[in-house]
Amino acid sequence: MAVMESVKAGLLVTTLSILIALYYKKSSDQELRSHLETILSNLLRAEKKYRLVKPKQVIVGIGACSDAFVEATEFLDKLNISAPIGSMGHPDSIMSPDDLGEIFAFFFTQGAASERYVANRTFWDMALETTKTMEARWVLGGNAPVIAKRLVAEGLKDVTLGAYLSKPLFEDLSEKMNIVGQVVEVDDVHIILEYERDSRWQHLTAPRANRFIIHADVHNLKMSALKDIENHIQTEKPHAFVLGGLQMLDSTVMNKDERSKSINRLSALLSSLNDETLRHFELASFAEKDFFREVIDKIVPHADSLGMNEQELMNLYTMLEDNSVTLVSNAHPRIALVLDQMRSIWKVLSPGKLSRLHVHTLAFQAIMTKKNKWSNTMIAAAKASLTAYRHTCSSGEIDLESARLLMDESFAVGRKEGSQRIKFNAEKPVACWEEGNALICVSPVLICTNVKQTAGGGDNISAAGLAMQL
Ligand SMILES: *[C@@H]1O[C@H](CO)[C@@H](O)[C@H](O)[C@H]1NC(C)=O
Ligand SMILES: *[C@@H]1O[C@H](CO)[C@@H](O)[C@H](O)[C@H]1NC(C)=O
Ligand SMILES: *[C@@H]1O[C@H](CO)[C@@H](O)[C@H](O)[C@H]1NC(C)=O
Repeated sequence: MAVMESVKAGLLVTTLSILIALYYKKSSDQELRSHLETILSNLLRAEKKYRLVKPKQVIVGIGACSDAFVEATEFLDKLNISAPIGSMGHPDSIMSPDDLGEIFAFFFTQGAASERYVANRTFWDMALETTKTMEARWVLGGNAPVIAKRLVAEGLKDVTLGAYLSKPLFEDLSEKMNIVGQVVEVDDVHIILEYERDSRWQHLTAPRANRFIIHADVHNLKMSALKDIENHIQTEKPHAFVLGGLQMLDSTVMNKDERSKSINRLSALLSSLNDETLRHFELASFAEKDFFREVIDKIVPHADSLGMNEQELMNLYTMLEDNSVTLVSNAHPRIALVLDQMRSIWKVLSPGKLSRLHVHTLAFQAIMTKKNKWSNTMIAAAKASLTAYRHTCSSGEIDLESARLLMDESFAVGRKEGSQRIKFNAEKPVACWEEGNALICVSPVLICTNVKQTAGGGDNISAAGLAMQL
């Protein structure tokens, strides 16, 4: 009897503790949910504060392509490429299927975005054929068109794109914006190998969702649209000039002198613009050191504003600090590190033209602007955060069921000991403060967990933020 009683009591205790655990699990889930709801509603409120003042002319260049999105591991399997065992190289360009296997593995295992030129036509044609046998998503791509479309979507009415496009793409885009350039027979194609967080390729695993891009561009390499933009600005005084896509000239088989000539011409074009014209340059993945150096020397000094992700930030930072290229860095950098690197770049470039820096990462957005030069920095950071979710989940609505937060309760503003700590406040999710001549705003990202697309994210995010500040 006594035994039965104690068994019963034991059962009761167990049942009770399970119920209590469930209760706490439920209430902590509810707490988290209401925390996310508060953040979301306040980000949306910040976004609504934006008012377009008056129509402003913006020119966007350079280049365009057609993007084919495929599932990365399925694509590699179809090409019978196997994952390398042991060390992974990262050649500047791709000659063979094995090169692709190695370089893809290199970035995949770090969850880092990158892109490479395929220098072997036979292999490229095979890759393109394989893409056509798959359920690929084909969309307009290239940095410039994505940026231009996003600016139009954010309400800018006078957007001009410089690009060479096939007829269908040309017609589709020209409904929304002005295009200077020409119609070409076939578009350059970029094959975008997408993968999700924790996806496996044979014995390898990806720590986060991302993409690797391969291409074998023709028109983009010639920067064909450059002369059309030159002609266009003879008669126009644009409010802003937005430049992206220069990484397409990185690590190709292109003649280096030809390439330098194009960069010089672009540099001359940038300096021929009206003084008041704001110049934004969207960085991307540069692997070839001499070329990146050339971009830093001839293009970056013309930029009032720079946009980049955490990898590109690290790459720019190490180039400015000690003239070295950094191909991959931590995909989840701490806020303190990102801000310190932004400060270093600011110190080098802001005595010159630079007055705005936007770094987009998976977990947060950071924007640094020169005080009184750019308006709406807080709104821009909130907008960029919301756009990051909307882009990745491919949905205008933000569903908290497929959102997570990767921010701690507070963060240090720098790595130096004794750096100020800022407590994260869900009621005012975008933290802004001043340092010297700069205003810094950091906004958390509600990270989309139901990933639909990653490529083009940086362009969409950067352009959305920029649109708030033009
Ligand atoms: C891959 O291997 C299979 C089976 O050996 C073969 O049928 C197929 O043609 C190969 N594909 C390519 C792109 O080489
Ligand atoms: C070019 O690609 C083809 C097809 O994959 C391959 O057979 C050939 O070895 C490659 N050429 C070089 C130089 O790697
Ligand atoms: C980003 O831009 C691309 C191309 O313009 C578009 O297809 C996609 O829907 C955009 N995403 C968002 C969230 O705007």
